Amino acid sequence: MTANTHLQINDENHLVIGGCDTTALAAEYGTPLYVMDEQVIRENMRLYRDAMMRQYGSRGLVLYASKAFCTTAVCRIAHQEGLGLDVVSGGELYTALQAGFPMEKVYFHGNNKSPEELTLALLSGVGRIVVDNVQELALLDKRAAELGKNICISVRVKPGVDAHTHDFIQTGKIDSKFGVALENGEAFAFAAKTLEMPHITLTGLHCHIGSQIFDLEPFEVTAGIMLGFAAELKEKLGIIIHELNLGGGFGIKYTEEDDPVEYDQYIAAVSVTVNRICREKGLERPFMLMEPGRSIAAPAGITLYRVGTVKDIANVRKYVAVDGGMHDNPRYALYESKYTFLLANRMDVPRTDCVTVAGKCCESGDLLGKDVLMGEAKPGDLMAVLATGAYNYSMSMNYNRNTRPAVVLVRDGKHRMIVRRETYQDIIRNDLMPDDLHP
Ligand code: LLP
Repeated sequence: MTANTHLQINDENHLVIGGCDTTALAAEYGTPLYVMDEQVIRENMRLYRDAMMRQYGSRGLVLYASKAFCTTAVCRIAHQEGLGLDVVSGGELYTALQAGFPMEKVYFHGNNKSPEELTLALLSGVGRIVVDNVQELALLDKRAAELGKNICISVRVKPGVDAHTHDFIQTGKIDSKFGVALENGEAFAFAAKTLEMPHITLTGLHCHIGSQIFDLEPFEVTAGIMLGFAAELKEKLGIIIHELNLGGGFGIKYTEEDDPVEYDQYIAAVSVTVNRICREKGLERPFMLMEPGRSIAAPAGITLYRVGTVKDIANVRKYVAVDGGMHDNPRYALYESKYTFLLANRMDVPRTDCVTVAGKCCESGDLLGKDVLMGEAKPGDLMAVLATGAYNYSMSMNYNRNTRPAVVLVRDGKHRMIVRRETYQDIIRNDLMPDDLHP
């Protein structure tokens, strides 16, 4: 579901999500509030799962990239919908464990995993550790030996592909902190090194070229490059690659300007490429994985804010301040991301007012959008920001000791809290007051 078809307007001109009136949700749970539509999450997961089955058959698995939105409830949903899970930290791994996620379907990524995280991964039996570099390889082999384990790994490869997206979320080029590069022989050297590691077998290749990508072509090119590398490993080192993970990164519609392709087209395109190249190169068709995060979670979510101060500076700019900001959505501050803003309590007001939406942090760059069109907002209005289901809650923070909002899951007119709102007690829960604190 790439468009906002799950949102409706009721007779009172209120925005409705998952059958729930947003003004009622705000009244019950307070603002700011993340609202996630369960049906949309499930439909997006099914779309990918079914596309994989249809296009590539049972030798494929879709992983949900949990960094997009990670809570125990969403891990449970991903499992119920037959997906595996991509985790990138001990915290995400722990969340999956607590959700009862089957560990053999968990893939553990990360460019600088700590010894403790590697131990947790080994002890909990994650399906695959995606090793980033040779130092991690040595560390992992040592730890596996100490724990008496022999494991299969994948390696994170930089295929050298330009993904045409924001520089901060590009990850496929040589100048990236993730993985080992193909073009300077680093990836080959890594593979050769695995042959010296008694407790490790290299069976998989992984790459992720970036995020919010709208073209199919970079994925097709990447699949070709990765299979070329698999063929080289077979020929020169006798290493057989059984598993190819092509990452995530599929673009979504944040505003009217975005024109994403249907999600299943990515899997269709790479399936055709992988099948063709394997035939040409005489390679066994690998088990294929893809890892969408944003495209599953973002369209499902909206954030509700209460409008506070409206500051119309003549001939300069009109600021509409809300009761959240960069601490619940740092994406404008980081990437100047664009969003769609609505007056959720007065959906009949035409979206003709050009405003800058400001947060409440003590920071000039704390904006949610600059020069955006929305209905003319008054203090007390309810503002909805669309497509905030990914990389909002998961990137939220406590700057200025602001509390993180609650997350409510809605479906068929029902609403349940899946993350409770932080309190001021939560804010100080790790603060310690030493007894000997005196001038
Ligand atoms: N797999 C790997 C190894 C990744 O690093 C990522 C995202 C994904 C899968 C999922 O990509 P997606 O389908 O969600 O695009 N905070 C940024 C996005 C960072 C993406 C990091 N890696 C943002 O808010 O735009």
